[in-house]
Amino acid sequence: MSITLSELGLRQKPSDITRLMAIAIERPDVLSLAAGFTDNDSLPLAEVRDIVNDISNEGPSGKATLQYGSNIGRSELRSILTSRIEAQDTLESGTLDEERMFISNGSQQSLYLAIQTLCNPGDCILVEQPTYFVFLEILEGLGVTPIGMPMDETGAVDVEGLKALLTEMNESGAIDRLKALYLVSYFANPTGHSISESTKMEIGSVLSRLERPIAVIEDAAYRELYFDSPHSARSCLAIETFVGIPTLYTSTLTKPYSSGLKVGYAYCTDDSWKESMLTVKGQQDFGTANFAQAIVERALSSGSFDRHLNELRGIYKRKMETLHEALNSELSELGWSWSVPHGALYLWLRSPNALQTDGDSRFHAACIENGVFYVPGDLCYPSERVQDRIRLSFGTLAVKEIEEAATRFSLAAKSMTQAVSR
Ligand SMILES: Cc1ncc(COP(=O)(O)O)c(C=O)c1O
Repeated sequence: MSITLSELGLRQKPSDITRLMAIAIERPDVLSLAAGFTDNDSLPLAEVRDIVNDISNEGPSGKATLQYGSNIGRSELRSILTSRIEAQDTLESGTLDEERMFISNGSQQSLYLAIQTLCNPGDCILVEQPTYFVFLEILEGLGVTPIGMPMDETGAVDVEGLKALLTEMNESGAIDRLKALYLVSYFANPTGHSISESTKMEIGSVLSRLERPIAVIEDAAYRELYFDSPHSARSCLAIETFVGIPTLYTSTLTKPYSSGLKVGYAYCTDDSWKESMLTVKGQQDFGTANFAQAIVERALSSGSFDRHLNELRGIYKRKMETLHEALNSELSELGWSWSVPHGALYLWLRSPNALQTDGDSRFHAACIENGVFYVPGDLCYPSERVQDRIRLSFGTLAVKEIEEAATRFSLAAKSMTQAVSR
């Protein structure tokens, strides 16, 4: 006898990437360029130990960090993070309201809460092509349909195409089910692309002309993880054309500090949406771990967070260059192409001659056979899945392992080219 799951429970299916990872795990020698994990060696264990020592000397207020906290998150942390966005967006201090900021279990939780409180099954969300594949999984799990926005050859949203799409949706009535537009705006996963301020501004003005408000979800998970300098565009929170558009800005302290502490944050300009997300969060966990928040709060206020992040930028830059150079010397003459990113953890490759790279392809099997694993790019597309892209992550492997993984990847690529030319 088996239980009957809810509609939501029945809708869930194991993600493609989990299935693929299970294949890789059967081969423990496989080097993974797939997982978006952070660098192991630089994780700030010593800094965290010092912070915990300081907390233990603080007396009752220190002890209270091991008590439940508030659902919305620690007030001091919210205030620091609100000021941090203001500084990044060159806004005057006090422009943003820390009551609109809440702390979440990674930014992943706020993305989930955002869709859960905004959408019914059958509703739809506009996304870039490609986009963050776990966001697509959230949508699938909640029965929400992603609609790919037209993109130009530089990887930016094609605003004229977006206008045409919205007109078409208006005429067909599909616009009634459109709830939000999702942007990964800084050093995006998977492409590394950052959205220019002028594109954001135009998107804002297109949305502000609609009859009904369509929310914007700006995912800025990698905003601070640049290699040399921040991307110049301000966030949607600071751009005039977004005034009046319900906007949720999400970001995280996992990638720039410690993924194991799993602290993220969100700023929402629409109070009823924010309250609804917080009420659901209250039902789920009544607050992100107070102790983890207290640690990052102290790291941020003492400056040790920024010192660590500065080091990380150099580490990821070196890893990116290692992977890029190793692949470049082997693959560029075979027709593989990619752009060199300016931040985050990924290279986004296009195979030559539309060589198929999806999870069922011969190329994917050849890579596993050679002992290297990647994320098939088709998982990052909402519907018509492009089959010749690959996401490689250089975050977690050590430099030597990246070199070895690149060699294995190149061998697989060469074997396919030979197979094609024979
Ligand atoms: C674009 C993007 N957004 C959000 C997240 C969620 O990360 P976290 O929950 O660690 O903040 C990730 C994680 O890989 C990501 O790549």
